[in-house]
Amino acid sequence: MAKRKVSTQERKTMKQKNQRAVFLSVIFAFVVAIFGFVPNASQATISGVCSNCHTIHNSQSGDPMADYGADGQPWKGTGPYPALTRGDCLGCHGMGGAAKIVQIGGSDIPQVYHTDTEDLASGNFAYILGAKGDGASDAKGHNVIELNNQDSVLYEPPGGIRQSFHDDGYIVNDTNLTCAGDNGCHGQRFYDKGTGIPSLKGAHHKNVDGKCDIADDIPSSYRFLLGVKGLENPNDKWQNASAGSHNEYYGTAVPPVLGCSGGEVHCHGDGGIRSPNDTISGFCGTCHGNFHSLTGPGMDEDEGIGAISSFQRHPTDIVMKNEGEYAVANRTYNIEAPVGRTSVPEDVISGVTANDVVTCLSCHAAHATNYPDLLKWDYSAMIAGGGGSSGGCFACHTTKDD
Ligand code: HEC
Ligand code: HEC
Ligand code: HEC
Ligand code: HEC
Ligand code: HEC
Repeated sequence: MAKRKVSTQERKTMKQKNQRAVFLSVIFAFVVAIFGFVPNASQATISGVCSNCHTIHNSQSGDPMADYGADGQPWKGTGPYPALTRGDCLGCHGMGGAAKIVQIGGSDIPQVYHTDTEDLASGNFAYILGAKGDGASDAKGHNVIELNNQDSVLYEPPGGIRQSFHDDGYIVNDTNLTCAGDNGCHGQRFYDKGTGIPSLKGAHHKNVDGKCDIADDIPSSYRFLLGVKGLENPNDKWQNASAGSHNEYYGTAVPPVLGCSGGEVHCHGDGGIRSPNDTISGFCGTCHGNFHSLTGPGMDEDEGIGAISSFQRHPTDIVMKNEGEYAVANRTYNIEAPVGRTSVPEDVISGVTANDVVTCLSCHAAHATNYPDLLKWDYSAMIAGGGGSSGGCFACHTTKDD
């Protein structure tokens, strides 16, 4: 039998088949790689038996199962709680023990009220009540109502835009400021979402770790702060541990001009109140607007920060000039005065760049610190001409200690 001649068409088909086989095996390798990674990735979020965190009837042997806060803590509750959890926010995140991260089953739970030596990046509410630090003080942090301790000095958020009741305390004040929801920071901030767990519903089990640059819902937003972008430190979770291991905050080159009507930049977005420009500073500005935004139609007269030097309030969401004392060559990344970035990086950047941005978190923590005004460092130790300093104000104003 004569050897069958392979037609050009057939050869082409064989080649395509071979290519397809190679292609499929590459896909397979990817799938294996992905499946190899998925269990690790999901371990980073919620894992462990349901009963670690949930109770079905809040009753076992006739006793409530809710609450595993440390004994004697003021927030120790009894439940039942929404979404059938065994605690409220502080029940899980403010146990008051000696560890900044507590393990329950396979899940790590970041603590915001504890007595560990180091704090997580957001600070530690324990400074307000004096469980840690140099003594109790309301000025050391945000007095959320979960602490049962209203601010003895402040009522409204300083710097709140007062135009049409925004926010002279009519909306948010020290008697209603909460962890999450209406009058809170995390989750959906909208009056019909209530406070606490309902405003976060679904976020914990879907939490996106690492790069959060979509931020179109709560689980994909930085730390469940709706609309805020950033990189959640993948190395030491929830911590600014060192220059090579820290969160990356998102900032913009120019702060926004706030308006009120549809076409202008404003804080009323999809899902409720959210950062007008996706930045962490804009998020702080949703309550402290005059400290963040440029003077504009939605602002009180001339109350904003001012657009260029000389500013009238310290600027945030502004790129540092790459010259003089701010020049990249003169600075190093300092976790005590961290800078933001104008795009969310894939991974932690250990150094400084020419596009670094000043953020509210360059000077303040979010929850509480051992210093007045929840500053990250002792302002009274910033001495012009003192020499040899590199932290705090001097992280950026590198020559002012000379
Ligand atoms: C039953 C326990 C439990 C309760 C109640 C709870 N959390 Fe959590 N929370 C967790 C665990 C566990 C994680 C870690 C999830 C992970 O690693 O992705 C977490 C993570 C977080 C994070 C960090 C998310 C991130 O980006 O890494 C925030 C913010 C948070 N919770 C806020 C809250 C707030 C606000 C409340 C109250 C409305 C609350 N949690 C109630 C257990 C709880
Ligand atoms: C480490 C703590 C933890 C474990 C373990 C856990 N959950 Fe949750 N779960 C939470 C928290 C906190 C909430 C409420 C806040 C939220 O929805 O983000 C929640 C909410 C839910 C919700 C309502 C919101 C949603 O995502 O649909 C369901 C349903 C749920 N959990 C089911 C389960 C089941 C089933 C298990 C066991 C297979 C389980 N959970 C294990 C912490 C946990
Ligand atoms: C939901 C509204 C809200 C948001 C968002 C908010 N704050 Fe506040 N802030 C308040 C209120 C209300 C007070 C006054 C009551 C208090 O201090 O507890 C306050 C007080 C403060 C104080 C003074 C604390 C004191 O007691 O002297 C500082 C500093 C501060 N906030 C910084 C920030 C920073 C930084 C951010 C962003 C990370 C931020 N705030 C986000 C509502 C908010
Ligand atoms: C993260 C970096 C950073 C930190 C930390 C920082 N600054 Fe600034 N500061 C800047 C930048 C950038 C400007 C704007 C400079 C410009 O564009 O001319 C500025 C502006 C100023 C101005 C106004 C200058 C003008 O031209 O109007 C003063 C005053 C000032 N800072 C003081 C301080 C003090 C005091 C501290 C500590 C409490 C501090 N800064 C911390 C970066 C920083
Ligand atoms: C350069 C450092 C720096 C930056 C950046 C910064 N702050 Fe401050 N903040 C301070 C200092 C220092 C004080 C103490 C009061 C003062 O000097 O005006 C303070 C005080 C405050 C207070 C308390 C005011 C009062 O009346 O008690 C609030 C609220 C506040 N800052 C919010 C913010 C917000 C929101 C941002 C970002 C939009 C921000 N800060 C950015 C350093 C900073």
